[in-house]
Amino acid sequence: MAKATRILMCPPDHFHVNYAINPWMKGNEDQVSQEKAMQQWRALRDLVARFAEVVEMEPRQGVPDMVFTANAGTVAGKRAVVSSFAHKERQPEEQYFADWFRSNGYEVGELPKGVLYEGAGDSLFDRAGGWLWAGSGFRSDVEAQEFLADFLDVEVLGLKLVDERFYHIDTCFCPLSGGYLMYYPDAYDVNSNRLIEERVPAEKRIIVQEAEAAVFSCNAINVGQDIIMHECSERLRGELEKAGFRVHTTPLTEFLKAGGSAKCLSLKLDEPEPVAR
Ligand code: ARG
Repeated sequence: MAKATRILMCPPDHFHVNYAINPWMKGNEDQVSQEKAMQQWRALRDLVARFAEVVEMEPRQGVPDMVFTANAGTVAGKRAVVSSFAHKERQPEEQYFADWFRSNGYEVGELPKGVLYEGAGDSLFDRAGGWLWAGSGFRSDVEAQEFLADFLDVEVLGLKLVDERFYHIDTCFCPLSGGYLMYYPDAYDVNSNRLIEERVPAEKRIIVQEAEAAVFSCNAINVGQDIIMHECSERLRGELEKAGFRVHTTPLTEFLKAGGSAKCLSLKLDEPEPVAR
């Protein structure tokens, strides 16, 4: 059966940790097992392939974080806004991702010079309302939000991150089918929490605890009623199941050393998804 959702992934042929641009990477330089990373990535790919069509892109040398395709850009329909990375270590990826979008038929939007923005790491569609949550605070500038709204023709709601462990919104915020939201509130400032509470009704907010957020439980891939993540506590699993979801876990320890997990390793290519309430 043809799958409705396509997901972009990049094999970890050149993945390692040899610089530290987030707190998780510190002390993990040269600690990645290449073999284990490849095994874990393949297991994730095969699991994702049960629910979506996986599209693989060519891995490039010299850009070890390119496995994190969530940071390629933000897709809406056949348009894509390409990332403009905060750190020089990741900037060479911009061209590879832009080329990929162009050669796959996307109209590519380039942010005004000097505006930082890290793609779907800092932008997530609400699954019921259709608006785009966009993050700022560590990697992406607030200025990017106006461009996103214009170029992608979507409503953009800004969220401000305040805890450096959670430097992209997808590390601590995961919109789910039917308008549910799994998130770690303490990673956001007061105004952001207010906005979330205004937009997402209390019965649809699934609050994640600090220890769960710290194993990247919010960094999950959601397709329909299925959710894929690195690790899930019994408590969180219960909450998600109560809301009608099935949770699948697969170990991603090698990627956690770089500060990323399941969602970071993927980019949804068919956004926004059809609205289901
Ligand atoms: N080491 C990468 C970085 O710091 C990890 C990126 C994780 N990606 C994400 N979408 N949260 O940029």
